[in-house]
Amino acid sequence: MEIKIVKTTTPKEKPAANALGFGKYFTDHMFVMDYSVEKGWHDARIIPYGPFEFEPSCMVFHYGQSIFEGLKAYKGADGGVLLYRPYENMKRMNRSNDRLCIPQIDEDFAVDAIRQLVLLDKDWIPEGEGTSLYIRPFVFGTDNALGVHPSHTYKFIVILSPVGSYYAGGLSPVKIWVESEYVRAVRGGIGAAKTAGNYAASLKAQEVAEKKGYSQVLWLDGVEQKYVEEVGAMNIFFKIGGEVVTPVLNGSILGGITRDSVIEVLRGSGYKVTERKISIDEVHEAYKNGKLEEVFGTGTAAVISPVGELCYKGEKMVINNNEIGEVSQMLYDTITGMQKGAIEDKYNFTYKI
Ligand code: PLP
Ligand code: COI
Repeated sequence: MEIKIVKTTTPKEKPAANALGFGKYFTDHMFVMDYSVEKGWHDARIIPYGPFEFEPSCMVFHYGQSIFEGLKAYKGADGGVLLYRPYENMKRMNRSNDRLCIPQIDEDFAVDAIRQLVLLDKDWIPEGEGTSLYIRPFVFGTDNALGVHPSHTYKFIVILSPVGSYYAGGLSPVKIWVESEYVRAVRGGIGAAKTAGNYAASLKAQEVAEKKGYSQVLWLDGVEQKYVEEVGAMNIFFKIGGEVVTPVLNGSILGGITRDSVIEVLRGSGYKVTERKISIDEVHEAYKNGKLEEVFGTGTAAVISPVGELCYKGEKMVINNNEIGEVSQMLYDTITGMQKGAIEDKYNFTYKI
């Protein structure tokens, strides 16, 4: 299918690098494609970024049949443009689509749509340290109907946002609240899908944690509230007595692409990495015995975020003296180095466009 391109006649002013923050500015264009039962995915177009009109009965407003992705584009050292593992995002998008009864999208076509959109708006890719062009593909049901059933029509949209670091403090260690009241996802639920409902479910605990001075919440499992799952916008890793441990993907945790990259890079660098169930009691025990050496989160937006403090049921665990650990720093340097084409990518993670 050909992508029709309509360029803006009123390009916007680009924000200053130090004003970026995360997800506040949007580029000049967006990709849009529609789905109907009769036509399948059709009418692929790149058009000026702007509003849509929806009826109040539009299904997504009521039942949340929507999924999204997040990936980034970088200006390489040679001036070329690099995406990071875009096929992994598109594969995950289709797994989320499947869970939410949304029709599949051809992965090659979707990567090509992203490629064309990013190249059209490539002057928006910021180049400062810690900056990138965040790509947000999303899909949602658009039927005008109130019966609870999968929509028959959908929109797939991709928007672009020049971003700096997700956390205001950049690579400085973040404080994380271990949530022991609310849960994010349950066994058999939608936790492994990147769907709006998971983020809606997270807001209350996040708000409470922020009021107490914590950046994000660390979720425990939804059955016993005993095993560590993930953080609001990142997966989590612990270095305990020399071994790196991360919760095994159990169906209620999002399978992060940064998580997967980190496991490969660590193993490739000679570290022992174990994916298994890890209880918050084990983390606490390791802390008391002086064996909790490092904790860090991983995510597209968050990149590698060292955790300087975990607070569980009123007890504060200060990790690595609230400083960036050796493993976190190595991973940050390696992954951002590959993403920007500054160091050799022996894992084939980067995708030149
Ligand atoms: N877990 C959640 C809940 C997230 O929102 C994200 C961000 O995408 C991640 C984990 C990390 O996933 P990825 O590394 O693919 O960005
Ligand atoms: C990402 O890292 O891409 C995310 O989706 C996290 C987020 C919810 C901002």
